[in-house]
Order: sequence, then C-alpha cells, then structure tokens
Amino acid sequence: MTKPLEGIKIIDFTHVQAGPACTQLLAWYGADVIKVERPGAGDVTRSQLRDIPGADALYFTMLNSNKRSLTLDTKTAEGKEVLERLIKESDVLVENFGPGALDRMGFSWDRIKELNPGMIVASVKGFSDGHHYQDLKVYENVAQCAGGAASTTGFWDGPPTVSAAALGDSNTGMHLAIGILTALMARTKTGKGQKVAVSMQDSVLNLCRVKLRDQQRLDRVGYLEEYPQYPHGKFTDVVPRGGNAGGGGQPGWVLKCKGWETDPNAYIYFTIQGHAWAPICKALGREEWIDDPAYNTAEARQDKIFDIFAIIEDWLKDKTKFEAVDILRKYDIPCAPVLSMKEIANDPSLRASGTVVEVDHKVRGKYLTVGSPIKFSDMTVEVTGSPLLGEHTDEVLAQLGYSKDQIAAMHQAKVV
Ligand code: COA
Repeated sequence: MTKPLEGIKIIDFTHVQAGPACTQLLAWYGADVIKVERPGAGDVTRSQLRDIPGADALYFTMLNSNKRSLTLDTKTAEGKEVLERLIKESDVLVENFGPGALDRMGFSWDRIKELNPGMIVASVKGFSDGHHYQDLKVYENVAQCAGGAASTTGFWDGPPTVSAAALGDSNTGMHLAIGILTALMARTKTGKGQKVAVSMQDSVLNLCRVKLRDQQRLDRVGYLEEYPQYPHGKFTDVVPRGGNAGGGGQPGWVLKCKGWETDPNAYIYFTIQGHAWAPICKALGREEWIDDPAYNTAEARQDKIFDIFAIIEDWLKDKTKFEAVDILRKYDIPCAPVLSMKEIANDPSLRASGTVVEVDHKVRGKYLTVGSPIKFSDMTVEVTGSPLLGEHTDEVLAQLGYSKDQIAAMHQAKVV
C-alpha cells in the first residue's frame, strides 16, 4: 500500500523539537524526509540528556523516526552546491534555525524560489516576522510565557507556571505541518510554492484562545464565574490563574482518591457537567440533591462548588482512582484517572492503538516512543528507528548524481 505523502521529498533542516516534530509526522505519512545535519555533530539532541553512553539520546530518537540523515556542511562552497541540487529536486524545505540563519547561509526565500519555483519553505521562529521580538532565539518555556499560557497556568497564590506539555515546541511543529500540507494542496492548483511561517508565540496563543475569551469577559463584567475566585475571592483586571478549574462551562477539579498520601498521582479529574447532575447525585448516594433548588442548577451550585468537591472527595477516600472511574463511567460522568508516565508507558490500550510503540534502534536497542496520534482507516502508521548521524549520506548523494569518487572527496574534505 502506498502512503499518502509518498513522492514528497522534504529537506529537513530542523533541530531540537519544534521542527523535528513536524517533519517526523510527515515522514510517518510517507514523505521522504532527509535530515540535513552538520558533519561530526548533528542535531544537538543526539547528545542531550543521554542515558546510554555513545548512543543517540531518546530526545533525538523520539523526534526523528522514519527519516534519513545526510551530513552536510552547508557553509562550504561544495556543501552549498549539494544543497542547491537537493532544493531543485525537493518539494519542501523545513527549518527552525535562529532568525536570519538561512539567509546568512545564502539561501534566502528569493534564492530558493529561483532554484525551484515549486518549493515550499516552512519555518518555525519564536516570534512572527515584524514582531518587536523577532530577533529573539526561543525555546519552549519562553514561548509559553510569551503566548499567554504561563500567566494563566498554576494556582492564584503561586507564580506563573509552565506546562509539561510541549505547547511551544511540538505544538508549533503540528501547526507547521498543517501549513505545509495546505501549501502542498495550494501548489496542486497554482503550481507555485510559497513560504509558510509559524511562530511559537502564535501557536501557544492559539491554544490559549479561551483565555483571551476570558480577558474580554472580565473586561466587560468584572468577574469569571467558572474560576475558583468566584464568588468569594477577588478579581483584578487580568485573567487569573485558575488552578485546576474546568475552563469551559463545566466546573471540574482534581480530587484525591485512596492512597493520595503516598502516591503523587492518586487523583481523578471530576467534571460536574450540568446535565449529568442527577447521575452524579445517584453515584454519590445524594439523591436528595437532584431536585433541591439549592443544588439543582449550575448557578445554585456555584457558591458551594468546593463544598461539593469536598463531599465527592469523601466518597472517593476508600476508592482507588481506577475503581472510582469504573463506577463513575457507568453514570456517564466525564472523568479520568490522573495517569503517571509509568502507567501510560504500560497502558495496554495505548499499546494496542499504536499510540505508544516500541521501536528498534541500531545502537540503543528497543525504546518506547509516541506513535501517530492521528489514526487513518486506510493506513497503518509504521514507526521506524531514527537514523544514525550521516547514515544515508552516500545514498542521498548518489541519488543526486554524485559519483563514488566525488562522494569520497567530499568525505575527505569533511563537507559531509
Ligand atoms: N552546516 C553548516 N552550518 C549549519 C548547519 C549545517 N548543516 N546547520 C546549521 N548551521 C548553522 C546555521 O547556519 C547557523 O549559523 P549562523 O548563526 O552563523 O548563521 C547555526 O548553525 C545555527 O544557529 P541557530 O539555529 O541559531 O542555533 P542555536 O543553537 O544558536 O539556537 C535555537 C537554537 C533553537 C534557540 C534557535 O535555532 C531558534 O531560536 N530557533 C527558532 C525557534 C525554535 O525552533 N526554537 C526551538 C524549539 S525546540
């Protein structure tokens, strides 16, 4: 079976996480992704946070599966010539260098267009073009702070907090993948390539859309009824941190279960969905609340929502998080156990769906990675091990038309 992106050739000039997450996704779906890396060094994540001496670190292997690796010094004349050939034959060039690096290398958008008018050049930067911070180099947490996530995450009596989820990095990569696929669709109509740019700040903000919603509601009415600060606490003129509050119209909170004193993840998330009030009362054995006007509307419950959560916690104290969810799911109550990474790694459902997969690597052996979160009825996504540094250099150069002698000379001169 052919894969949907088979025949699409991608020059993968990415490093660290944001760019590699994007190109890995496209490689899973069939694109030929050629990762271009500096000879002798490669992507910095190959050696960052190493757990096995001499083997590529998991940081690298988990973001670069299904790719080929070409080492190339693109600052040498010979290296530039190889890159030019590659550009002429490729469909997409993806990069997440610091601002201006591609131009300094001699490959401005104008130059690339001249070499290949069908080329799509896709870039990740910290801030968008023309932004007053456009010259800044940016990593994950910087973007989370600039995109509104940190100021709205955490508890009201603590500092701004970053999320463990890679909102700045992998999330930006996913936005870029959508941009690339859109530009590829556009090219089928126009025959022309284009520049696709995604900033990490914008991608974080896109996920913080509801917080911009809240800012405008706060400006208008002075309070936000779904936040724990309502009705007893005080609001200022900025969206506050809401702890574990629901965020939408459904109040929710993280609640302790049996064993929380020793297990840091013995919790569930419990949502009081409006129309599930009667089932919640039945599950808790509080049927008298179903028709009680002091409880039977969301508005009536608002000022005692934490008392209600305390009663639910009391009900949870002799149940593990899994037992609790098994009871609550029968009542159609939106809830889930707080899962640790260890539980996720061993979850049979995640293994069966291919979301957590075991992959073989030539040097490190077997390791776990996150497979495609997108499932297709006509394609099973196969995740293969990440390439060793320069593993496909000779193969790629030969495909570009270089002879064995020319390739040997490039090795000799450390161009590859
Ligand atoms: N051959 C020769 N030179 C190469 C090369 C190759 N194959 N690949 C990269 N380089 C050079 C670049 O030309 C550039 O040189 P220059 O600065 O002299 O022009 C340099 O290596 C790379 O610079 P840069 O990307 O700025 O690396 P850095 O380690 O200083 O910064 C980041 C890292 C991530 C902070 C920066 O790349 C960045 O801000 N990227 C955009 C946002 C982003 O993606 N952040 C990370 C998210 S995980």
